[in-house]
Amino acid sequence: MVYPHRDDLHKIVILNPKGGSGKTTLAVNIASYFALRGPMPTLIDCDPHGFATEWLRRRPTNRPIIHGITPHKHSIHATISWQLRLPAETDTAIIDTPAALDGAELHDLTYEANCIIVPIMPSAIDIRNAAKFIAELLLLAQIERHKRTLAIVASRTRHNTLALKQLMRFLSSLRIPIIAILRDSQNFVQAANEGIGIHEMPAYQVRKDIGQLNLVMRWIEQSRQHNRPAKDPLPMQDERPLSGRPLH
Ligand SMILES: Nc1ncnc2c1ncn2[C@@H]1O[C@H](COP(=O)(O)OP(=O)(O)OP(=O)(O)O)[C@@H](O)[C@H]1O
Ligand SMILES: [Mg+2]
Repeated sequence: MVYPHRDDLHKIVILNPKGGSGKTTLAVNIASYFALRGPMPTLIDCDPHGFATEWLRRRPTNRPIIHGITPHKHSIHATISWQLRLPAETDTAIIDTPAALDGAELHDLTYEANCIIVPIMPSAIDIRNAAKFIAELLLLAQIERHKRTLAIVASRTRHNTLALKQLMRFLSSLRIPIIAILRDSQNFVQAANEGIGIHEMPAYQVRKDIGQLNLVMRWIEQSRQHNRPAKDPLPMQDERPLSGRPLH
């Protein structure tokens, strides 16, 4: 075990103070995806209710392993400064967070995050709450200054509702990307009950859900590339190997 202050660790925080907005569902599905892809990810369950930890306990032993950390026995404030010990092979840490967070906790959770994903249910009240929360987040986490990335996922969505259109309008006015629209689908409920993710369910069953989830994973991967420090700077133009030159 090593301390996670490593250049290659990608820290994904799932946040929304509104209960039931789909945080845990998204967190466990991201963990499942990265477990399948390898190397073993770590799922950090900051919610005292421990739903992500319960999901991990239900996880069948023949599935790719996800390392679980449950820091909620202490306070988030004291323990979430990324000083938690992670397995050496982990290059992705997914942090599920509780509904109610105070300003200090929000700051601690986001301070060293590489990407922050806010799942929002497209209902009028949830959009209003999300607007306030995102304003607070932009101020507190100083997203742009630290080059952190923030994205929204619409969760439990029924197609083409007025609320979804409102959510899209609201986000485009803030220039925050809405990276995926997850259907209201029993597949998420079934997968959660079985301790697996959508990517681990039969392809024919999840064909309407997997495409949007893949958009979330692609965005995470892009954010990883963006955050990765340039270890080997590109050679100057004249030093490029022949194979790297465009063919005429
Ligand atoms: N896309 C979806 N389709 C259908 N049901 C969903 C979907 N996403 C989440 N759910 C269900 O909605 C409920 C709330 O989801 P979840 O627990 O992920 O929200 P949460 O934001 O983590 O809630 P809390 O703030 O209480 O921790 C759960 O019962 C979950 O199974
Ligand atoms: Mg939760």
